[in-house]
Amino acid sequence: MSARPHYPVMLPEVLAALGATGAETYVDGTFGYGGYSEAFLSAADCGVIGLDRDPSVAARAAQLTSQYEGRFRLIETPFSEMDQIDLPAVDAVVLDIGVSSMQLDQAERGFSFMRSGPLDMRMGSTGPTAAMAVNQLGHGELAIIFKMYGEERQAGRIAAAILRAREQGDLVTTEALAGVIENTIGRTGKTHPATRVFQALRIFINDELGELYEGLCAAERILKPGGRLIVVTFHSLEDRIVKSFFRRRAGEMPGGSRYAPQIMSTDNAASFNLPKRSVVKPSATEIAENPRSRSAKLRCGIRTDAAPMSANDQLLPKVPRVHNVKWAA
Ligand SMILES: C[S@@+](CC[C@H](N)C(=O)[O-])C[C@H]1O[C@@H](n2cnc3c(N)ncnc32)[C@H](O)[C@@H]1O
Repeated sequence: MSARPHYPVMLPEVLAALGATGAETYVDGTFGYGGYSEAFLSAADCGVIGLDRDPSVAARAAQLTSQYEGRFRLIETPFSEMDQIDLPAVDAVVLDIGVSSMQLDQAERGFSFMRSGPLDMRMGSTGPTAAMAVNQLGHGELAIIFKMYGEERQAGRIAAAILRAREQGDLVTTEALAGVIENTIGRTGKTHPATRVFQALRIFINDELGELYEGLCAAERILKPGGRLIVVTFHSLEDRIVKSFFRRRAGEMPGGSRYAPQIMSTDNAASFNLPKRSVVKPSATEIAENPRSRSAKLRCGIRTDAAPMSANDQLLPKVPRVHNVKWAA
């Protein structure tokens, strides 16, 4: 673990997109270690509302609450519900999607195949665990999750091996699952063979793509005209959702796409304007300092005064969602 528990990804670019000024209120929808929140609070005399679904960020949030008295508070909630928690209309919503380095480093959270721990992987404290998914889902469901969320080419073989391993007893630890995967597909190249399956399970268990899409729609509902929606993503599945969301809201994609059939009314006025440079990537300096940032992409839109669009654009891939599975206790 580095001396710095979390490196705020693309911070200079996020600050440029935000253009912080006093008397504005911002939502940092993925508080994490508070790297963005702290930078906003020190850039201007603004107010910041931090959101996170992970209760373990509370101690760090308490430091900011006392350091920036009256200007910062944390609310423990999924950001998809930011429009249901009685927030005022705000001047910006910022989302830095994904898992934090603190979460990856905590062995007991079960996010990492590099650390020995229970197969948990929940960012929040409720809901089914990765162990429940691995031990209860059928071959077809596991295979589609590994294929779609992990882009794992050997998804079917790995799912079959998991079902065979389950006959000897439940898979309940990170090592047990990583071992089954390694024994099935072997090791080639630099990447650990379990990388893609662990990513897929994490995305599934935390409903990360559903949260992202619903979070964008919720942000659209609470932003003031002129308010900025700034989103940093780390992989193509997420970026595709953000890109399609903004293009549709800006009226640039009335005809639909592979994930979005032609179902949205085209007579809605654009609810966002997009800057000329629609996607921004990290600088070479940042990539050298923090190689994890190399796949990051920032997209931003500016809210118009048009009504929010309907949230039925079906931008999500066709994969079972965690809330739709009937879990055994
Ligand atoms: C990459 S970290 C954010 C780091 C932060 N920008 C910083 O500079 O410290 C992502 C954080 O978002 C939280 N998170 C992820 N998905 C969430 C969701 N749907 N709702 C609320 N918080 C979420 C995670 O628990 C994690 O703490």
